[in-house]
Amino acid sequence: MGNKLQGKVALITGSGRGIGRELALMLAKDGAHIVVNDLDVAPANQTVADIIGMGGKAVACTGSVTDDDFADRFINTALDTFGGLDIIVNNAGYTWDNVIQKMGDDQWQAILDCHLTAPFRILRAAQPHIKRLFLEDKEKGITNFRKVVNISSTSGMNGNAGQINYATAKAGVVGMAKTMAKEWGRYNVNVNAVGFGLIKTRLTDADAEKAESTIDIQGNTIKVGVNSAVFESAKTMIPLGRPGTPEEAAGAIYMFCIPESNYVTGQILMCHGGGFGL
Ligand SMILES: NC(=O)c1ccc[n+]([C@@H]2O[C@H](COP(=O)([O-])OP(=O)(O)OC[C@H]3O[C@@H](n4cnc5c(N)ncnc54)[C@H](O)[C@@H]3O)[C@@H](O)[C@H]2O)c1
Repeated sequence: MGNKLQGKVALITGSGRGIGRELALMLAKDGAHIVVNDLDVAPANQTVADIIGMGGKAVACTGSVTDDDFADRFINTALDTFGGLDIIVNNAGYTWDNVIQKMGDDQWQAILDCHLTAPFRILRAAQPHIKRLFLEDKEKGITNFRKVVNISSTSGMNGNAGQINYATAKAGVVGMAKTMAKEWGRYNVNVNAVGFGLIKTRLTDADAEKAESTIDIQGNTIKVGVNSAVFESAKTMIPLGRPGTPEEAAGAIYMFCIPESNYVTGQILMCHGGGFGL
């Protein structure tokens, strides 16, 4: 275990699987205490158990980020369990694709609720505590930087056919990060975003052509996965010649969570192996 983030309290939505889980393990290895969230209880508890198993500290705050009481519950779990609030990563999410003429209001709204409204509510709920903690630090003569990272996508930056809901939400969290960087600079909070290209997780790993490539999100059966042709073309279209791993994706978020990035705010870092022929 390292000590770069010793005693820092990190809240990561959607950290039961994929990129969020890898980030939780990575920050915990550096000494951070983690509030793990996921819609699904078993994977969230697994991340907590794995962190505790390696000598770290973690607690689960399960449930959907879209629940009305979630933001307060999430922030209060961090404060009540670990007495702090240092790093917030808005990572939870999924895709629910369709072309515009086939996309219902429910499909549009569900993705906006998860990827855009939930991060807004979490940051709004955090604000009084971030201000209070900043003033307490100042009183003690301590300069302490806090970190927010929103997770975006190449879809948000460049658009993607079939993803008007997701691309709109993922563009929105970039605007949110840039705005909050301006509002919260006064509290020494770095607010940045990381946009991913093709990363091998549950969202993309399955073969989309297979009928069983679905996930259940709050009662909706949603098709996931990427056509095998897309993975094949990744070899030539992505300069690094392959999709990224969850560990590599978490590494890009990590860079915005450590003290070395204390003078970087309002930025978007693309983690996409050089792009997808864009
Ligand atoms: N994998 C990629 O290629 C890719 C590309 C661009 C952006 N992203 C973004 O990265 C983030 C992480 O995705 P991933 O690839 O690790 O996927 P993943 O499916 O492996 O992990 C996402 C986790 O979020 C959880 N989740 C989904 N909806 C939730 C909700 N309403 N409340 C709480 N938890 C919820 C899921 O249960 C899952 O465990 C997402 O925001 C995704 O949009 C991923």
